Amino acid sequence: MRYWTPGKIRALKGQKKFATITCYDATSAMLIDAVGQEAFPIVLVGDSLGMTMQGRDSTLAVTIDEVIYHTRCVSRVLKYPMIIADLPFGAYQADNTEGVRNAIRLIKEGGADGVKIEGGERCLNIIRTLVEAGVPVCGHIGLTPQSCLAMGGFKVQGRDEMQAARFISEAKLLEAAGCFALVAEGVPASLGEALTKAISIPVIGIGAGAATDGQILVWQDMLGLSLGFKPKFLRVFKDIGTQTQAALKEYVTAVEEGTFPSENESYT
Ligand code: KIV
Repeated sequence: MRYWTPGKIRALKGQKKFATITCYDATSAMLIDAVGQEAFPIVLVGDSLGMTMQGRDSTLAVTIDEVIYHTRCVSRVLKYPMIIADLPFGAYQADNTEGVRNAIRLIKEGGADGVKIEGGERCLNIIRTLVEAGVPVCGHIGLTPQSCLAMGGFKVQGRDEMQAARFISEAKLLEAAGCFALVAEGVPASLGEALTKAISIPVIGIGAGAATDGQILVWQDMLGLSLGFKPKFLRVFKDIGTQTQAALKEYVTAVEEGTFPSENESYT
């Protein structure tokens, strides 16, 4: 068992704002744990791995086996945060039984502590079944990247009153179905706040304003490693991308000029 559990995470609501982050590999997982056991209640092995790890332009092609692989890389080393793994596009839409089997694979083969499912009302049945089977489920509404074809791209959602009201009622249904937390992505700050007030499970925002209980950022984005990706909601907390490029240039120059390796860096 990891240090963070659904119960501890639910208890943060109204008590303490919290940061969460995506992670897809063991090296990054080690760094996350090294920040301390209280720092990150949740680490998400998101299907955003399709973009960050595979160079795709959407999450649509990501398979359940690929999410399992990356979840395993993270779960082998991570001790503190609860590991939530994404059910990717195509892993649960066709039928509930297949979705439940895939969710259980994320836990048995990947070492996840729970799963995340994109969508509102249409996901209620599978969420109920998973919760009954003892699988912690995190919901995800607003801009749901797996629906990018239907949405016509990656656009802020819930700007009109009717859609905002629908998201609020879906959030309540997801809570009633047993979700322990809810991701709200790409919605106006006012809707992020309304969602947070409407339900008693923690709302984790990304591009959803400052009022949500928690925030989530993609590892590569907040470290300046997603070159050219600059959405309004994103803060680059340290520009490791630029620092990495500088280090690579220094290495090339040192080799070309013959200053690397030095005598100290060579075996006698
Ligand atoms: O796949 C992902 O990384 C996500 C987060 C951006 C919430 O769903």
